[in-house]
Amino acid sequence: MKPHTSSDWIARSLRSVWHPCTQMQHHEEVPLIAVSHGKGPWLYDHEGRRYLDGISSWWVNLFGHANPRINRALKDQLDKLEHAMLAGFTHEPVVELSEKLAALTGHNLGHAFYASDGASAVEIAMKMSYHAWRNAGFPGKHEFVCLQGSYHGETMGALAVTDVPLFKDAYGPLLRAAHVVPAPDSRNAGEGETAQDVARRAIGAVRTLFEERGDNIAAIIVEPLVQCATGMAMYEPLYLELLRELCDQHRVHLIADEIAVGCGRTGTFFACEQAAIWPDFLCLSKGISGGYLPLSLVLTSDEIYQAFYSQDITRGFLHSHSYTGNPLACRAALATLQIFEDDDVLNRNRELATKLTVALAPLAEHDRARHFRQRGMIFAFDAIENDPDRASTFSRRFFSTAVENELLLRPIGRTVYLMPPYILDDEEATGLAERTLKVFESVIAP
Ligand SMILES: Cc1ncc(COP(=O)(O)O)c(C=O)c1O
Repeated sequence: MKPHTSSDWIARSLRSVWHPCTQMQHHEEVPLIAVSHGKGPWLYDHEGRRYLDGISSWWVNLFGHANPRINRALKDQLDKLEHAMLAGFTHEPVVELSEKLAALTGHNLGHAFYASDGASAVEIAMKMSYHAWRNAGFPGKHEFVCLQGSYHGETMGALAVTDVPLFKDAYGPLLRAAHVVPAPDSRNAGEGETAQDVARRAIGAVRTLFEERGDNIAAIIVEPLVQCATGMAMYEPLYLELLRELCDQHRVHLIADEIAVGCGRTGTFFACEQAAIWPDFLCLSKGISGGYLPLSLVLTSDEIYQAFYSQDITRGFLHSHSYTGNPLACRAALATLQIFEDDDVLNRNRELATKLTVALAPLAEHDRARHFRQRGMIFAFDAIENDPDRASTFSRRFFSTAVENELLLRPIGRTVYLMPPYILDDEEATGLAERTLKVFESVIAP
């Protein structure tokens, strides 16, 4: 039988698959890419063309595709236990993973509640926060606060605390209103202001809101240090430090959504570590399974856990998903954490990030780029594209040209960013930077 070609798969996909976050008609112009297999940072199509995965397949992949160590762990787990429900039962991978994560927080967040996708973890944190207040005798605390430009996922609760009009506006009437406070985005620094001044200014608005509505607010949710989906908006750890203080003063929970920024992405295992604070709830997903399987979780403190511990069933957290704590996903996560330990990943990433920053210098200094920024293994800059027509198609044009240059990069609006897997060798790192420059120069208007 003739092997299937990319064009066979693409035609079949367009007939039967509804692709995520996509206006499907755009595929009349921009072709799909049919992936046949992956190896390390590369994805291959059916004709052997390859693409360097510069965005870790939507920020999930940490140690490359088809990683031999994660594969081995999964094959072993497959022969033991593929799944068992977690209500009334438990198993080795979920226990070991929960213990390891608690240890990584210095046992400040000692309990892990599991789900599958990131948005579900956000829903869980929000429900838990409200329910914890209710159990403590404060049922009036049911409002939530989020940051301008925040992104927490697409389900209704998560979308309610998201502030990206493109994703949210169509569903406005379905969503519960949230308070939106200014983002501490360092790019907002005015003349003579530092990034820390911006953080202090943004905290002022939270203080005012808490003073007015603190008795009604359950929690504020933030993406620590980098607001990714709005366009890699970066801010100072000082903001988190001051926010923790305000939350304590006004008895408001702090939810840290580390779904995108956790697992070493910002330079420390958890982004919150850079502010030396712990939230009341910490959401993880994406990288925690090494980019292998849907796994998300909420870590929380003993105090929150105790607020639910009772003879009374209705004081318990009666939330579940069929695949809660799936053993295969937990085993992939354990293998991922083992790689962090064995390969001294956080220190090695520091070296890799420095190499990439040096290699990206021509873009940082480019006269059509501004606000070059970097935190850990996230690199971004904003393209200056003054023509409104060209600006509105910048991202799609960049993506297509990148593909022709063996790169997978998907700018957010005019923000070009790199968020590669942690396993690039020197040649791949410099190749990624050089090709990004080449693509940028051919896409940006003269
Ligand atoms: C910060 C943040 N929170 C939540 C989510 C939602 O995760 P998922 O797409 O797995 O539902 C994302 C996804 O990009 C995210 O970046």
